[in-house]
Amino acid sequence: MQSRVHEIRREFDRDLAGARDPEALERVRARYLGRRAGLLTGLLRDLREVPSAGRAAFGKAVNDLKAHVEEALEAAQARLVPGSAREAPIDLTLPGRVQRPGASHPITQVSALIEEIFLEMGYTLESGPQVETDFYNFEALNIPAHHPARDMQDTFYVEGGLLLRTHTSPVQIRTMQKRRPPVRMVALGRVFRRDSDITHSPVFHQVEGLVVAEGITFAHLKGTLAHFCRKVFGKGIRIRLRPSYFPFVEPGAEYDISCIFCGGSGCSRCKGTGYIEMGGAGMVHPAVFEKVGYDPELFTGFAFGLGIERIAMLKHGIDDIRLFFENDLRFLSQFPG
Ligand code: PHE
Repeated sequence: MQSRVHEIRREFDRDLAGARDPEALERVRARYLGRRAGLLTGLLRDLREVPSAGRAAFGKAVNDLKAHVEEALEAAQARLVPGSAREAPIDLTLPGRVQRPGASHPITQVSALIEEIFLEMGYTLESGPQVETDFYNFEALNIPAHHPARDMQDTFYVEGGLLLRTHTSPVQIRTMQKRRPPVRMVALGRVFRRDSDITHSPVFHQVEGLVVAEGITFAHLKGTLAHFCRKVFGKGIRIRLRPSYFPFVEPGAEYDISCIFCGGSGCSRCKGTGYIEMGGAGMVHPAVFEKVGYDPELFTGFAFGLGIERIAMLKHGIDDIRLFFENDLRFLSQFPG
């Protein structure tokens, strides 16, 4: 009797291996588990006729075979009948996987806007290295050796006498060295300072502007800054220039825009002054022209700089500069661009 069990098992395995489609599988199932003529069903019926001494062993052998047959049929079913796999049922009530569109970083968005405004006015886009020499970052910009900007407190120095540029002004020098006037350029890029708090980050972005030709005046500078600020913040913006000092410009100035929050009447954002500081500017210092071989008797020029984060913060009402560098999606997804 036991050998009959083994025989059926072998037969079953062979039949199942030959079943290549759901119909063939059903035929195998019927042949072994069919209620009336199933071979296994027949074996169980035979159990009654087995002498009681061998009955338990035979019963166990038949039950083992039955378990084997059921398991193998189920595995084959999962393989042959699509969607029938028990271990991976499709739950149609589960929410779908949302494909979220990406967007450029808010700093990239504001940079693109700034570039567009200056390209429209015929400026060229220039760039320079982030790891600079003392010559380009300081020396050529008329920043003397004892100037506080060179202090270890403000500048990241790297090996080999190099440093991380503290502003985009070195691109002025690089551009003038490779080109004769007229020059009309902007340079956008990363700058680095040893500074970190809610409004200062050790890495941030600046825009540098430089225009050099015969007959360039301070009026051109003011007109350009006013046009730029109105393009960014709206037509009603007024600008104001205050005397200030940068070694590479003379006269030097800082420029402000009328407060975009209160329109100039004074509020907490502008600390009651009605104005918000934007950046530095001035007429290119003759000593800078001499460094790059431009004749200061022939040419004049203006230069200006400003922080890109600052513009983005004002435009979007963001009060912590560090948010731009944390790459938190909850922040970034608010700027779908
Ligand atoms: N480079 C100056 C700074 O980073 C800004 C500036 C640029 C001032 C050009 C005048 C002219 O503070």
